[in-house]
Amino acid sequence: MTLPQTHIAQMSPYALADLSAPRGKPLISLSQNESLRPPSPMAIEAAARAMSTSMLYPDPDWTGLRNALADRHEIDPEGILCGSGSLDLIGCLARVFAGPERAVLAPAHAYPFFRTAAQVANARFDTAREEDTVVSVDSLLGAVRSDTGLVFVANPGNPTGTRIPKSELSRLREGLRPDILLVIDEAYGEFADHLGERCFDLVQRGNTVVSRTFSKAYGMAGFRVGWGLFPPAIATETRKVMNPNNIPAVAQVVATAAVQDAAYMRDTCEMTASLRDKSAAELRKAGFDLSPSFTNFLLLNLGSAEKARQADEALRAEGVFLRPQSGAGLPNALRMTIGSSETTDSAVTILKQWKQEEQT
Ligand SMILES: Cc1ncc(COP(=O)(O)O)c(C=O)c1O
Repeated sequence: MTLPQTHIAQMSPYALADLSAPRGKPLISLSQNESLRPPSPMAIEAAARAMSTSMLYPDPDWTGLRNALADRHEIDPEGILCGSGSLDLIGCLARVFAGPERAVLAPAHAYPFFRTAAQVANARFDTAREEDTVVSVDSLLGAVRSDTGLVFVANPGNPTGTRIPKSELSRLREGLRPDILLVIDEAYGEFADHLGERCFDLVQRGNTVVSRTFSKAYGMAGFRVGWGLFPPAIATETRKVMNPNNIPAVAQVVATAAVQDAAYMRDTCEMTASLRDKSAAELRKAGFDLSPSFTNFLLLNLGSAEKARQADEALRAEGVFLRPQSGAGLPNALRMTIGSSETTDSAVTILKQWKQEEQT
């Protein structure tokens, strides 16, 4: 067999959620931070209409979608690039701006795909300590080395669920050398938008990209649409490695209609936050330790890797799948997506029962 390049041979495949329900049990997945409800009815109607033109290639410039996003966020459509999910944009940015002589830096409990993107680019992946699962700008700045080329920060973070204020991101940008590219991944940004701290203006400082996705608040994980605001020179280089025609025509139409129905998306965020806060309060009352969450999931610290394994097993026995977090350096933790009230309540009930049995 022809051998792959050494740095690819040394990689493990990216680990997606293990969803193998026990026989006879329904599968309840609270493991991938998907939305608790489908996309806006307006988006679904738009999809049905767009199907009849599917013999044509999609718009390679995502014109309708870019314009809708630019109107919604009051940003320049020229600075927007869209990806097949924000994973696509993260991967492209790493391929262009990281490599054997340009290392990638991220917080210790960052979204694991940042590491994968660095590995594919054959770049060293460095991490910076966090304070109680909160990104520390001081430790990120302290971890910068002479060959650091790219810094990824998800805000709010996954799997931590925590966030840092815009003033801290601004301090990070100011403290980084101007030649280092800072990528602020706001996959969960819509869940924190009510705080009034949008970061798109940081892009004007140069060498800063802000990315978002339709997979979370818009309930469109299956359509694979992500986007980012880029400085012009960074956008030009990134486009060189992007797959042309990367977003199916139907997905572009659905995303455009979804952006135009902002009220539905905000409603999804409010429903999610209210169920999240109610579940967190119940779990805390039952004795669980949880990080504060600004997202559509909760991070439970079970105190030890063994306890996390036991709680996970109790849930899986009932067909309920959370996500263990050893891949993000948190072996004591389980991440629970806020699903429908029915599925979320069943997870909370099983966890409370497990806790009670464990304490007796
Ligand atoms: C922080 C973060 N970034 C990016 C993504 C990728 O999202 P997508 O490729 O679906 O846009 C996720 C998905 O879970 C995420 O949690």
